[in-house]
Amino acid sequence: MSLDLNLNKILIIDFGSQFTQLIVRRIRELGVYSELVSHKKIKSTQIKSNTKGIILSGGPLNVDELNNNLFDKRILRLGIPTLGICFGHQILSKFNGGKVKQSKHREFGLANIYKRNSSLLIDNFFNKKSKKVWMSHADQVYKLPKTFKVIASSENSKYAIVESKVEKFFGVQFHPEVTHSENGKKIFSNFISKICKIKKNWSPKDQKIKLIKEVRQQVGHNKVICALSGGVDSSVVAQLLNKAIGKKLYCIFVNTGLLRKNEETQVVQTFKKRLKINLIYVNAEKEFLSKLKNVTDPEKKRKIIGNLFIKIFERYSKKIKDVKYLAQGTLYPDLIESKSVTGSQTSKIKSHHNVGGLPKRMKLKLVEPLKFLFKDEVRKLGLELNLNREIISRHPFPGPGLAIRMPGLITPEKIKILKEADYYFISALKEKGLYDKIWQAYAALLPVKTVGVMGDNRTYEYLCLLRAITSEDGMTADYFDFKKSFLQYVSNKIVNSIRGINRVVYDVTSKPPSTIELE
Ligand code: XMP
Repeated sequence: MSLDLNLNKILIIDFGSQFTQLIVRRIRELGVYSELVSHKKIKSTQIKSNTKGIILSGGPLNVDELNNNLFDKRILRLGIPTLGICFGHQILSKFNGGKVKQSKHREFGLANIYKRNSSLLIDNFFNKKSKKVWMSHADQVYKLPKTFKVIASSENSKYAIVESKVEKFFGVQFHPEVTHSENGKKIFSNFISKICKIKKNWSPKDQKIKLIKEVRQQVGHNKVICALSGGVDSSVVAQLLNKAIGKKLYCIFVNTGLLRKNEETQVVQTFKKRLKINLIYVNAEKEFLSKLKNVTDPEKKRKIIGNLFIKIFERYSKKIKDVKYLAQGTLYPDLIESKSVTGSQTSKIKSHHNVGGLPKRMKLKLVEPLKFLFKDEVRKLGLELNLNREIISRHPFPGPGLAIRMPGLITPEKIKILKEADYYFISALKEKGLYDKIWQAYAALLPVKTVGVMGDNRTYEYLCLLRAITSEDGMTADYFDFKKSFLQYVSNKIVNSIRGINRVVYDVTSKPPSTIELE
């Protein structure tokens, strides 16, 4: 799968390391387009002249297992500068006549490496005698190919950094892509600018121009429909398409009744009134509530909401004649958590709701212009597209909405209470300047009532759970460490202002083992 933006790029060949995505990000953060492909799928004949460098990722395999079905070794004979990381480093040595075997001392965690020779790859990397780097390997190179020389060593890895100047092969046994590796970014910047000599081509402005061009090429004069949720991703898709094809875009916004407080008004205001997008507003609150009546199982809730959403969307989109395309705000991490883009299987954690079944049923083709972007890239692109900061900096909100923040039964009374609690929490975060420091925050309503006392009266009301996390992309997360005074402030505000909640708790679990949402 390729975005085929026809840009000069660094190609990252994924051998299944948990850090592969980070490599893509690091290169893009340095302003150069990079793309991820599976080791099983990429063939040397598919690599075109716009691939200016290759990075072989780490992975759980053993080099002896790498037969021709698993990796086309001719890729290493194309004369393209190549950086191997961990397993990738072992591949480079093995296929050039070196030897790899299980290490006597496995290295997991931080290790010190020491410079032994100079190389373009380590220009300004060793600003002191040694560097702390992150190791995670059981095998290691123990005999270097003839043309290779050692650049740096650790106590347990003689060949921690190696190079073959002739072939422009570079290997690092550690993981420069993880933040624990000191100065790791320098390895990448040296590789891309000093070795691959690739110019910067990946700024939000570059992306805007390229993506608009791509969308125009893909859809031609045809009409496109788009499910607009008001969240960052679909908003950016809608505005990108608005810029690309104007009135040939039709956005449908379904109010499921499970949105955040006042969300529907804001969406109509922004997209219909300000950005002049063709927007069809559908109020389906009653339909969703009636279908969700008596349902408590999380996956059932998700399925019901997803299916009904599709049905309603289909109902309204049929009213627009001759639609050929459906635009979706699918992102890179969305693809990776449910179905790996690179073809390596990762486990499906929750059934993520999008308009999945629709393209087939309606014979629609998909337009997914953000599918290779990370969330922070999407946000920057949104700003470049003149979307207001309030939409851009908005925390992610799941498709099934408040339904999955309300374990147990979904009732109008609970929705009303939850909308208010969430509103107070989010308003307090904004008021205290904390909102932008947090990746995602929300209030949830737990299906238990507890006893309280207010004034002289006994209360018996719901328990409100607050969740606020920091994360890079939602794949892993940690709880946000609020000051006690803030938690006290929000708790008081919620309990004093909302009838129906008499107790507030703060969730301090990370992901994993928990997930960000409750269901
Ligand atoms: P979890 O709960 O899986 O959430 O840790 C990770 C991120 O994904 C969001 N999320 C969803 N987004 N449809 C979406 O569009 C969904 O069904 C869905 N479920 C979870 C969640 O809010 C968090 O940002």
